[in-house]
Amino acid sequence: MTSDIIVFEIQDQIALITINRPDKLNALNKAVFDELDRLLDEVIERSDIRSAIITGAGEKAFVAGADISEFTSLDAPSGEALARRGQLVFDKIENSPKIIVAAVNGYALGGGCELAMACHFRVASDNAKFGQPEVNLGLLPGYGGTQRLTQLIGKGRAIELLATGNMIDALTAFNYGLVNHVVDRGQLITKAKSILAVINAKAPLAIAASVKAAQQAYDVNKTGYLAEARLFGELLQTDDCREGVNAFMEKDLPFLKADKMTRRSQNLFC
Ligand code: COA
Repeated sequence: MTSDIIVFEIQDQIALITINRPDKLNALNKAVFDELDRLLDEVIERSDIRSAIITGAGEKAFVAGADISEFTSLDAPSGEALARRGQLVFDKIENSPKIIVAAVNGYALGGGCELAMACHFRVASDNAKFGQPEVNLGLLPGYGGTQRLTQLIGKGRAIELLATGNMIDALTAFNYGLVNHVVDRGQLITKAKSILAVINAKAPLAIAASVKAAQQAYDVNKTGYLAEARLFGELLQTDDCREGVNAFMEKDLPFLKADKMTRRSQNLFC
């Protein structure tokens, strides 16, 4: 089945899920989340699907984040609810009994990096870029990024990326262990499919059990996700966040005006 916002195709028992908003760099708005949630159920339930690939439409982006334009109307409770909703959809990916691979074909930023990290593993094209730039918006990642980035690359590297908002290229992501393979852009889906062809020839119950057991290694402290969602909501109502989000919408630079420094330092968050 094909919809406008996500293209869904099945070939050789592999579902190819393509987020399809290339004019907005495939940013995750509510409609994308609802459709992704529905399609994940389809992947998990359908017997003619053994595994799945998630990728982004167009030349530039896998997914450039949550849709920032939807942040302007949020307060703390609705912001926390948005984060929890995103976390639950991404949990569905992480806990899927069928392997789901991210084929990262460009910017994987914010919610896009979080989406890629929720997948069981990642294959990247040589133009891929990863980052958690929420700090530029006065925010932190809200869809599990603070937890999964730390799990995948370790606390020191994770905190550097979270606090700088810097992007890393595909090779650095490979060196950090964030992606398993880096290939030429034209080879990305072929590479992901070739790995899944091997997996699809193995025992489905054993694969599901392996995912479940591996996941247990990370389930020791689920409270981190709840804390992340709560902090996301709380940050949304700060002046920093209003300034950061407005600056993105206006294509301007936030946090540079000296007269605002006093207010910000009085408003420290810990
Ligand atoms: N939410 C909503 N819209 C987004 C978006 C996002 N996360 N990321 C990109 N877009 C939109 C832009 O507003 C622009 O829309 P417009 O053409 O209507 O103005 C369009 O996608 C193209 O993006 P643009 O910024 O013009 O492309 P670029 O090549 O100059 O820059 C990025 C690419 C990825 C560096 C830049 O788009 C960016 O910083 N995006 C936000 C990343 C982010 O902060 N993600 C975390 C969100 S929580």
